[in-house]
Amino acid sequence: MQKIKVVIAFILIPIAIHSQGLLINAANRNITSLNGNWNYIVDPFETGYYSFHSEVYDQKNPGSPSAFYNNYQPKNKSELVEYNFDKSALLKIPGDWNTQKENLFYYEGTLWVKKSFNYKLKNNNHLFVYFGAINYKAEVYLNGKKLGSHEGGFTAFNFEITSIVKEKDNFLVVKIDNKRYKEAVPTLNTDWWNYGGITRDVLLIEEPAVFIQDYFVQLKKGRTHTISGFVQLNNSGKEEKITINIPELQIEKVIEVPVEGKAIFEFDVSNKINYWSPESPKLYTVFIKSSYQTLKDDIGFRTIETKGADILLNGKSVYLRGISIHEEINGRRANSKADAIKLLTWAKELGCNYVRLAHYPHNEYMLTMADKMGLMVWEEIPVYWTIDFNNTSTYNNAKNQLTEVITRDKNRTCVIIWSVANETPLSEARNSFLINLIKHTKTLDTTRLVSAALLTRGENGVGIIDDKIGEYLDIVAFNQYRGWYGGDLFTAPQAKWTTPYNKPVVVSEFGGDAKQGLHGAKKERWNEEYQEYLYQQNLLMIEKIPNIRGISPWILTDFRSPRRVLPGIQDGFNRKGLISDKGEKKKAFFTLQAFYKKIKNQFN
Ligand code: GCU
Repeated sequence: MQKIKVVIAFILIPIAIHSQGLLINAANRNITSLNGNWNYIVDPFETGYYSFHSEVYDQKNPGSPSAFYNNYQPKNKSELVEYNFDKSALLKIPGDWNTQKENLFYYEGTLWVKKSFNYKLKNNNHLFVYFGAINYKAEVYLNGKKLGSHEGGFTAFNFEITSIVKEKDNFLVVKIDNKRYKEAVPTLNTDWWNYGGITRDVLLIEEPAVFIQDYFVQLKKGRTHTISGFVQLNNSGKEEKITINIPELQIEKVIEVPVEGKAIFEFDVSNKINYWSPESPKLYTVFIKSSYQTLKDDIGFRTIETKGADILLNGKSVYLRGISIHEEINGRRANSKADAIKLLTWAKELGCNYVRLAHYPHNEYMLTMADKMGLMVWEEIPVYWTIDFNNTSTYNNAKNQLTEVITRDKNRTCVIIWSVANETPLSEARNSFLINLIKHTKTLDTTRLVSAALLTRGENGVGIIDDKIGEYLDIVAFNQYRGWYGGDLFTAPQAKWTTPYNKPVVVSEFGGDAKQGLHGAKKERWNEEYQEYLYQQNLLMIEKIPNIRGISPWILTDFRSPRRVLPGIQDGFNRKGLISDKGEKKKAFFTLQAFYKKIKNQFN
């Protein structure tokens, strides 16, 4: 009889992941989509939230007809009500509001949306409303009752509505505020568009009386034949049994779940495992069965580790042939499966085996498609530039976003690197902020690598990669812009770089702007020949960087940025894409494609 090791939950566990009771793998649950047209009200003065004496309605006078979340309808012609959702304009959800309405293009502030729906809930079942993401701050109400709030524009969250939902005429109202502020994550200044709105799917999720809230099923760190993880039941209140079933591996493991609801497990696999890799992105159908429900997930098994300067995937050294990607397509927030397939297909066409999803967690389609299409992934939280490192609430916010993204994506085999920051200025406060985030990541997930996009310094013409944080990272990654923000291109191939770290080095960004279709001398900025030459020279330079094990040039496609205002060239776009915002490839696309073809055989 095969040995199954079950450890009771109150032992200190290496992988304790849960945040705000996120229902993971939402797409494979019993869902009803609330996507579509929602009514909206723009409310720059937050009239629907505060009284004229700035008292918060939902605290001071929850039933006030003036509070927009009450969706109040005048009972007669003499009653004073100064808003009406049903007569208000419509926004498509999921979708950013900026590119849907011209007068909302630059809008940063509060905007309310409302969706009405009917729902017949089965007896004893639970019902949740699930948001893939709302940028930036959300206050959520159902039928006038506050469900809760969420901060952070790029991670999923859900609220239970079992006791509030009615069979008919429910109204779900969300106050969305995408104002930027210093203590936020990200902070005031970013080089991407601050798209506002409900930018990802909205779902109703019906769960049985006792339901599977969360689980983690991956190969145990450093083991090729041991699957370990946990299952978290919600609301069990008594001992339960769970079965992990992986038909193709003839695995049918019954696991005892203690009263507390969490079971940690590990078991050996005797059958041959086809390990996941970009060349063969094998996913196994995994069923997690309780006596109340069965959850299906497609999970691959692979090991990822570093050894000295090498990155080992399934024990073999790999070179990360990457590209950086923003969650944007055709000048709008990307949000659908089709968007994900389009972006990742371009990356595959480049010859990539890896993508850096910058600078924040992207929608779940990007991860499930990268799993299927065979692309390793760097996922990052928006601890970007001058975050308020001295502020504890900023730290807790960053930590929460990290917990939420790891909770959502820990079963996605494609994710090999969690990144905790990008281009953050050196200081003691910053160091301890990042070191704590790195430690938190390691407590949440021991099976993956941790990194951050660092900056470097120069001394006597030598580039030095010795940021103190490098000590705590598995992969030392840095951004450099030779030939764009400094340094000349002609001598770039002779440039010297050094690092004290005997760790894999990755160039997480390099690049330069080019207006697609603009041609000219390679020494003149903004044309395709300049960008092409910049790639040629940087790739020659990078090959000589010590311990170099990968790159993710900046960036796959042109993207909107309020910082980029050069008329006739940028017009509100960062033009460092290898593909324009209209999907047209630039010369440098083929330069990088040829480079990846060349090195592919060297490493794999
Ligand atoms: C930075 C930054 C990016 C930015 C890029 C650029 O390195 O990380 O977010 O867009 O440089 O300047 O184009």
